[in-house]
Amino acid sequence: MQGLFITVEGPDGSGKTSLVKELSRQLEEILTVPLLTTREPGGSQIAEKIREVIIDPNHQEMDDRTEALLFAAGRRQHVTEKIRPALEAGQVVLCDRFVDSSIAYQGAGRKIGVKEVASINQFATENLVPDLTLYLDVDAQVGLNRIGSKESNREKDRLELEAISFHNRVRAAYLTLLEENPERIQLIDASQTMEAVLKDSLTIVENKLQTFGLLED
Ligand code: TYD
Repeated sequence: MQGLFITVEGPDGSGKTSLVKELSRQLEEILTVPLLTTREPGGSQIAEKIREVIIDPNHQEMDDRTEALLFAAGRRQHVTEKIRPALEAGQVVLCDRFVDSSIAYQGAGRKIGVKEVASINQFATENLVPDLTLYLDVDAQVGLNRIGSKESNREKDRLELEAISFHNRVRAAYLTLLEENPERIQLIDASQTMEAVLKDSLTIVENKLQTFGLLED
């Protein structure tokens, strides 16, 4: 039996993390199978350690390809330890970020090349592709302002500290991925209220779950 793999993507400050939390809570109530909610970078003990190395604002010397390889290495561990076993057990996996993040941030943001980054990630995941991806679209500056606002009382990580041009390239790359994968990737307007973003996301996810026979009657 094969489960269903859902990912949530978007620029920094798009509200992904809050959405994943709420989506997860609501899905738990209507699913006929267990739900694994997880995130990248991280998601397993080893991968969380790799995450700390990657996002540490003190690691300014980190080489771009080292960064891409570390994201891929953490992903490999996460896929092997958590994601694949859950899917093989027929579960639904909801993951905050996956390969599309590396394509957008390292491929386009760091200008390593989208093809090169896709290729190391195919190696890392053995071609695991999500069944559905929600892409939370928001203007890069609007996203960054949200993170910098007084309500969000947290420090910026090493990638969030990048210039606006970096974040504009990230968003542009996501929009290209959306164009190239119209079946898999669904756009959500993340400039809306949290309630509206959640409502749009639930409609799309429930539709998919229905097709896979994973919803309670
Ligand atoms: P994330 O934990 O999603 O940040 P936040 O929850 O604070 O929005 O991701 C941390 C940073 O890592 C974020 O700036 C996006 C970046 N990232 C990549 O550059 N490549 C990747 O493959 C992933 C998964 C994340």
